[in-house]
Amino acid sequence: MRLEGKVAIITGAKSGIGFATAVRFAAEGAKVVVADIRDAQQVAREIARDGAEVMFIQVDVSDALQVQSLVQETVAAYGRLDVLVNNAGIELAKTVPDTTEAEWNRLMDVNLKGVFLCSRAAIPVMQSQGGGVIVNVASELGLVGGTEIAAYSASKGGVVQLTKSMAIDHASDQIRVNCVCPGPVATPLLEAIIENSSDPQKERRNIVDKTLLRRVGQPEEIANVILFLASEESSYMTGSIVVVDGGWTSI
Ligand SMILES: NC(=O)c1ccc[n+]([C@@H]2O[C@H](COP(=O)([O-])OP(=O)(O)OC[C@H]3O[C@@H](n4cnc5c(N)ncnc54)[C@H](O)[C@@H]3O)[C@@H](O)[C@H]2O)c1
Repeated sequence: MRLEGKVAIITGAKSGIGFATAVRFAAEGAKVVVADIRDAQQVAREIARDGAEVMFIQVDVSDALQVQSLVQETVAAYGRLDVLVNNAGIELAKTVPDTTEAEWNRLMDVNLKGVFLCSRAAIPVMQSQGGGVIVNVASELGLVGGTEIAAYSASKGGVVQLTKSMAIDHASDQIRVNCVCPGPVATPLLEAIIENSSDPQKERRNIVDKTLLRRVGQPEEIANVILFLASEESSYMTGSIVVVDGGWTSI
């Protein structure tokens, strides 16, 4: 088991990529904190059914006080924190002129500030125990641009850069910080991006056509990579931006 005895917080774990990651981590022996803004009590119970230790903590990752208690409650329950997966995210399928200031602020608060706040709360714990791992979930849209996705793309570009700078600052603390950039993955978030675009049918076709593999990915295909980055199998990796996009950005 690749995460035996490890304690992991996964944000946005009620659904999609976060849920698939929580299932995978639990199966690999981790004690998992399912952290989500929505009630995920049932999800945590489901994952715990096979004998894993799983706990749900409700949190809005954009709220500093809630994030601080997420980490405190985790340490109080399990005694340590080895892995933080900054996965929680929201979408916004709009051009700049169509984006309100409130939408911009909320998107940045969740997608970028959330990564900052969770990392800021977790790093001192990891420092005090001699190390840890942070995996950030950005997007292929953090590396290249896209149609009607300006603010989202900007927020994910920020996560990519934040990853590199945190890796530099905390290598000496034995904290590895890496980033996964998924391409289109079959989750409610992708469905919302498609449905909120100006031409959903065309958008759906375009998305598949932009991948070399001619399909969207499954959440488990991203969870596998997050697991690898969280485990000792990636022990020589930090500051890496790992693209898992069916070939989207290779052209
Ligand atoms: N699905 C894709 O095509 C795709 C592609 C690239 C990157 N991503 C990224 O992957 C991550 C997971 O997305 P997904 O596709 O699984 O989406 P999803 O909508 O299925 O899951 C996101 C989860 O985050 C939670 N969440 C939202 N705001 C939150 C907040 N403020 N605090 C705590 N939790 C919050 C939601 O309740 C939800 O459970 C996101 O960061 C997303 O941007 C997704």
